[in-house]
Amino acid sequence: MKKIAVMTSGGDSPGMNAAIRAVVRGGLEYGIEVYGIRQGYTGLLGGDFMLLGSREVSGIVQRGGTILQTARNLEFKTPQGQKKGLRRLNERGIEGLVVIGGDGSLHGALALHKLNFPVVGIPASIDNDIAGTSMSIGVDTALNTIIEALDRIRDTASSHSRAFLIEVMGRSCGYLALVSSILGGAEVVSTPDHEVPIEKIAATLEDAYVRGKSHAIAIIAEGVSYEMNDVVTALRDNPQVGFDVRVSILGHIQRGGNPSAFDRFLASRMGVHAIEVLHEGRSGLMVRLDGQEMGTCPIEEALENNRPIGESTYELARILSQ
Ligand code: ADP
Ligand code: F6P
Repeated sequence: MKKIAVMTSGGDSPGMNAAIRAVVRGGLEYGIEVYGIRQGYTGLLGGDFMLLGSREVSGIVQRGGTILQTARNLEFKTPQGQKKGLRRLNERGIEGLVVIGGDGSLHGALALHKLNFPVVGIPASIDNDIAGTSMSIGVDTALNTIIEALDRIRDTASSHSRAFLIEVMGRSCGYLALVSSILGGAEVVSTPDHEVPIEKIAATLEDAYVRGKSHAIAIIAEGVSYEMNDVVTALRDNPQVGFDVRVSILGHIQRGGNPSAFDRFLASRMGVHAIEVLHEGRSGLMVRLDGQEMGTCPIEEALENNRPIGESTYELARILSQ
């Protein structure tokens, strides 16, 4: 294999640049030329390729976002779009592809593999919803961003004796919400798979007030079935809660920022491992963190279900929030 391409696709996550750098430098190690595709599957369909040498990826290991940019592309979800993508790769003489992205992007990678094109996926998404790996690139940095925000909010919540409702990202997965609730000392956490009814949130905040806590924090995952506004209305209209209530939606600050040491290391290892896998002539695999080691699993298996969050983590959150 002499010529491959790399792309970032879907929602960006901190550490994508470190992964691109590792793919390029890992490629150089094996004498493989690496082309960057701009804006994910949009750039693939548009033929937007650029040769990446060692210098093009200097000084990016610490940068959030992605130098290749990213996109969401509906056309690539169709069989015609996928064939067009394959045609673009063949026109350029590209012999393998590394897709860095979340579960949607990896579905795209799988489609190319099924068309017999050699593909390896690298899981990168702050949501940590990809079942095949214990951690995806960007999760650790997003958690650090969330707990920094929680620490700041707790200061002002405590000064004013307030309850805060904080919405965190995670699409349909409650991992960020649950883990940040443990790390940030929240009183209650509501996630798509352990949804806490609004009345129960109110009761928990009321209990914290009655027990003399100076403030209270409720973390709500964005994927729950009710809207944040419904929670706010219910709590503000409820004199039993005791605390004055404020809301903070953390939003896209969770997706940016310099990657943590953990994410730089994870991305660096995954990038080089992806090259090793392609070099060995294997395809349709996603590189994964398996315990402390790099491993691989079929992309299809990695995407079968959302990554389960162990009941023990919910139990830990319950014990520590008392
Ligand atoms: P993420 O990769 O962060 O989960 P998306 O779910 O938005 O983000 O997916 C990113 C892109 O991957 C989509 O815009 C589309 O181009 C491609 N994609 C998603 N699902 C599929 C699919 N089932 N088949 C082919 N391509 C897909
Ligand atoms: O998948 C990553 C993620 O940040 C989710 O947590 C969130 O639901 C979604 O992307 C937001 O996407 P957009 O970039 O379209 O705002």
